[in-house]
Amino acid sequence: MTTDTKVSLRRLGQTNIQVTPIGLGVMQFAGGGKGIMGRMYRNLTTQEKNAIVGAALEGGINWFDTAEMYGFGHSEQGLSTALKAAQVEDDEVVVATKWFPFLRTAGNLSKTINDRIRHMDGYPIDLYMVHHPWSFSSPEAEMEAMADLVEAEQIRSVGVSNFSADRMRRAHRALQKRGLSLAANQVHYSLIHRRIETNGILETAKELGITIIAYMPLGYGMLTGKYHKSPELVRKSSFFRRKMIRRNLERSRPVVNALEEIASRYGVTPGQVALNWLVNFHGESVVAIPGATEAEHARQSSGALHFTLTEEERSVLDEVTREFR
Ligand SMILES: NC(=O)c1ccc[n+]([C@@H]2O[C@H](COP(=O)([O-])OP(=O)(O)OC[C@H]3O[C@@H](n4cnc5c(N)ncnc54)[C@H](OP(=O)(O)O)[C@@H]3O)[C@@H](O)[C@H]2O)c1
Repeated sequence: MTTDTKVSLRRLGQTNIQVTPIGLGVMQFAGGGKGIMGRMYRNLTTQEKNAIVGAALEGGINWFDTAEMYGFGHSEQGLSTALKAAQVEDDEVVVATKWFPFLRTAGNLSKTINDRIRHMDGYPIDLYMVHHPWSFSSPEAEMEAMADLVEAEQIRSVGVSNFSADRMRRAHRALQKRGLSLAANQVHYSLIHRRIETNGILETAKELGITIIAYMPLGYGMLTGKYHKSPELVRKSSFFRRKMIRRNLERSRPVVNALEEIASRYGVTPGQVALNWLVNFHGESVVAIPGATEAEHARQSSGALHFTLTEEERSVLDEVTREFR
């Protein structure tokens, strides 16, 4: 068992953007905004959002993930307001946001980019992703439009989210024709959702030098062990989350037991062990963006890398979660 307080930065794809292995996802800042996501989450107060972002920054996190879909500007605005409140200069953090492609064509990218820029209020868009594959345009057309945004210096790099291995390769090729590369694919990945290891996404990302950004890395909170300890919390969750938790609660019990056992050796939490495993098991290929509704969550997530799991501990977690591959 070893402990280590130094967290090194990782290169985002083949860009010169450097991120901490753990960033902060601020989908939870959508609450109160427009669209379905605005209704799914509680409307956090400005004070709460500022405290969450402040805790992440204090813990050493240097980047944040948001999206147009997270309240259509609400999450982005909450993030930029919190960064301002923390007196962060615009070149001190990395910001990732996403275009909402549903029922739109690639032409919409240039039409809506100014909204993203306005909501980020001076913080540059370091990574701009296509949120999911469902649009009226091909990945090639989307990447052409993204490359135009890079050339116009409206964004720094290009990523995708929820793209299959094949679609990711197509996007990468299209960008290469414009002298760029695909920086990241943001996908669902956690100890209880390991499909990217078997469906070609992780392998292709490694081959092409594309960073995997793991979303829902805490298994929507399940890997913290709180639902196993206090099942009454499940009832209080939102409809979709409740469904996901109920489906996996018993299956994930052995995983949470193993996380708890390892966590007790380091004096850390099960969630911290889960994040540590996720961003280290595949070398530097994977970074993660845990979400938070309290400053304490962000504090714990940012402290997830101050210890080093042994080879044996990593293998134990690999073995106990093989059925989730
Ligand atoms: N690209 C995409 O399609 C996509 C999809 C989903 C998410 N994302 C991104 O990924 C980020 C993370 O995903 P996620 O937030 O859905 O899942 P997650 O990171 O697995 O879970 C986050 C939730 O777990 C709970 N939690 C976090 N830390 C905790 C702690 N220390 N103790 C107890 N509970 C804790 C909190 O929920 P409660 O307080 O509500 O219990 C928090 O909102 C999002 O913010 C978003 O940026 C992207």
